[in-house]
Amino acid sequence: MGQAGLVNKMIEESHVRELAQYAKQLKQVTVDEVTESDLFQIGIGAFSPLQGFMSEANYDSVLETMRLVNGEVWSIPVALPVFEEVAEEIQINDEISLVRQDGVVAAIMRVESIYSPDLEHEAKMVYKTTDLKHPGVHRLFNRGSVYLGGPIQVFPDERTDVFSDYFFTPEYTRQRFKELGWNTVVGFQTRNPIHRAHEYIQKTALETVDGLFLNPLVGPTKSDDVPADVRLKAYQAILENYYPQDKVFFGVYKAAMRYAGPREAIMHALVRRNYGCTHFIVGRDHAGVGNYYGTYDAQKIFDEFTPEELGITPLFFEHAFYCKKCLGMATTKTCPHGEAYRVILSGTKVRQMLSDGVAPPPEFSRPEVVEVLMEHYTQVQKV
Ligand code: ADX
Repeated sequence: MGQAGLVNKMIEESHVRELAQYAKQLKQVTVDEVTESDLFQIGIGAFSPLQGFMSEANYDSVLETMRLVNGEVWSIPVALPVFEEVAEEIQINDEISLVRQDGVVAAIMRVESIYSPDLEHEAKMVYKTTDLKHPGVHRLFNRGSVYLGGPIQVFPDERTDVFSDYFFTPEYTRQRFKELGWNTVVGFQTRNPIHRAHEYIQKTALETVDGLFLNPLVGPTKSDDVPADVRLKAYQAILENYYPQDKVFFGVYKAAMRYAGPREAIMHALVRRNYGCTHFIVGRDHAGVGNYYGTYDAQKIFDEFTPEELGITPLFFEHAFYCKKCLGMATTKTCPHGEAYRVILSGTKVRQMLSDGVAPPPEFSRPEVVEVLMEHYTQVQKV
């Protein structure tokens, strides 16, 4: 997909004042933080080819076929849920203002579709479960039960935070990769602090491409994931100490985590294509949570598409770990030694260790990262 394929729904600076005035007269619909992050991703083109929130036809098509009505691949519904009492006051063809929690209008939307989705069906199709313990399913059933679809125009977000210096639009990164002379770029998604298995698969991938786009998700996540600002400090620490500065580009991805495993892996790949990556890393249990997905389901789902139609090539990695016999990092594909030699810690176990004031070993996580995490968890304990 060329530059031409990138959607840009951001309102140009010269129209902001006039449209902000106009937006005040429209019906105001307050949106949650997930919708707020979605609309922004649409605006900057990270969700290209989406031009707005999905119509019923596209929603149905995505659920059943993982494609939009026009045949382009898209794996996860991005609709705008509202509660019934809000929906009752909205008609097809209305223009509405989408308002952030702090009262600022984030976007103007033309409502082209109003529909009542079968949420249970959506849960089964997207998350493969209706279990409310699944964070994605839980969120699904706690948002509105009526969906709105239609194109949007997005106001620039004037707020700054700790992530601002690391936020880039797909248009910018594509240009930057070109300037850097990178013909091949591998994208990496994570919602966790980088541990050695991450580092190993990133660097193994980097051996065969020109550059690494380290693109952690910093949008809404479940409450027990490590907070994004703490992760940012950990990313800075590891980048400074272990990565070649001229081969890595670090930028944050402000979308919400869905925890939809395989389907989300496809979406993550499409987004990184939009950012200008040619390759995308998919390891073990990508975007998974609990035991809802098989370890490699998020890799198998790529069999359903060609790299040409995705516009990006996935790079698959098996479970990586430190092996005490190999004296180095390896995967189930490359290490012949048994489990007894492997240093493997689950996310839950690591969080537990940190909460107990126990440092994860250097075979698992770089000391500089551990230091950042320990500091955070000691402070949490004090509160
Ligand atoms: S998530 O966004 O996919 O949920 P996470 O941080 O858990 O984030 O994983 C980031 C990427 O690294 C994913 O592609 C995941 O499959 C991969 N990954 C994480 N841990 C390992 C591991 N030990 N071995 C191989 N791949 C891994």
